[in-house]
Amino acid sequence: MPDQSTCRVCAGTVTEFLDLGDQPLSDAFRLPDDTSPEFSYRLAVGACDGCAMVQLMEEVPREKMFHQDYPYLSQGSAVMREHFRALAERFLSTELAGDDPFVVELGCNDGTMLRTVADAGVRHLGVEPSGAVADLAAEAGVRVRKDFFEESTALSIRDQDGPADLVYAANTFCHIPYVDSILRGVVALLKPGGAFVFEDPYLGDIVEQTSFDQIYDEHFFLFSATSVDAMARGHGLELVDVERLPVHGGEVRYTLALPGARTPSAAVAALLAEEKARGLHDRAVLDAFGDKVRQIRTDLLALLTDLKAKGERVVGYGATAKSATVTNLCGIGPDLVEFISDTTPAKQHRLAPGSGIPVRPPAAFADPYPGYALLFAWNHAAEIMAKEEAFREAGGKWILYVPDVHVV
Ligand code: SAM
Ligand code: TMP
Ligand code: ZN
Repeated sequence: MPDQSTCRVCAGTVTEFLDLGDQPLSDAFRLPDDTSPEFSYRLAVGACDGCAMVQLMEEVPREKMFHQDYPYLSQGSAVMREHFRALAERFLSTELAGDDPFVVELGCNDGTMLRTVADAGVRHLGVEPSGAVADLAAEAGVRVRKDFFEESTALSIRDQDGPADLVYAANTFCHIPYVDSILRGVVALLKPGGAFVFEDPYLGDIVEQTSFDQIYDEHFFLFSATSVDAMARGHGLELVDVERLPVHGGEVRYTLALPGARTPSAAVAALLAEEKARGLHDRAVLDAFGDKVRQIRTDLLALLTDLKAKGERVVGYGATAKSATVTNLCGIGPDLVEFISDTTPAKQHRLAPGSGIPVRPPAAFADPYPGYALLFAWNHAAEIMAKEEAFREAGGKWILYVPDVHVV
């Protein structure tokens, strides 16, 4: 009998299809002298027999992940900065073009999206529980409330600021298991013609590219049009638009509205049909995904072990939350990957969770260049490879493990 749990969307039965083993908190970078026991949980993923939603089998308490020292910064990628600037401009000329508009962003982080809205003088509020990143947003002129968004927060915002034209969340809604409370809050907060827009990693891309490292504690749900459509219907909303995005290895931006308020776009029916045609939610497809993950684990460990035997240096590039899943699934430690280069101040001079691989500032990467760089931030490959041309010119090679293990 496979392991089962209760669906956080529809209370149906979730049946496990992949176990990625014991894992640490993916963003808990530890000081080198920290000897306290490391938190761990079983990272396994399943699909709901009722609504198809793909979700983790075990939930990590939110305060363990999102707190004062949460290190991730939205501004860490130039491509993402431009992505959010362009989106904010689009919102300003569409959803926020009416009279005295108001937008609420869940998980505004360092304010990368909302600073464009703030600069335009448009009413806004970022809701961000992680203290240090919320402070950065405030310093950038963004109005921010240090809180978890949930129904009570939504009601209090509505009391203070009135209803919203737009509720937006990037790489945040999939982090939140308590869907009921969030969607009741969204419904209470939105104007009758308003929209809830969110973008998150797309199950279709994860399965197609075997990007299994998108599965970690913070990514509680792996959304698809099929599962989001069912979730919206079950919570008094309607899926009215979908847009595929190239960022973060493939995402979908979903637009939900109150039922009947907007005409669903042709893109919704097209993506639903595409998911059905490719059998995205079929058990056989999800099982085949699991087989490919196990192959990548075997191949990556073999490659790194071989390079070590040949005396080659391998350095990791980008101490992503995703990298925790890879290193801890494969058993990759500092013996195989000397250190990880990363631009995020709050990750540097610490040890990566579970694996204990040291994280160093980018200057260490070139001092001197290693023979091989394991690209954990593969979702930013174009940006990083363009920036690191000197590494290639020095004879360096990139190791990638998505969609399979290869060296370029
Ligand atoms: N939106 C930014 C982006 O796309 O770069 C940040 C994404 S970051 C991966 C997820 C953010 O969601 C974190 O800053 C975290 O503190 C925040 N978060 C987690 N739970 C939340 C909740 N219930 N309400 C609002 N924000 C939340
Ligand atoms: P993400 O894939 O979750 O956005 O995380 C990317 C990580 O990689 C983040 O810790 C910042 C780091 N990074 C670099 O070190 N150099 C870079 O050029 C980019 C784009 C990201
Ligand atoms: Zn369900």
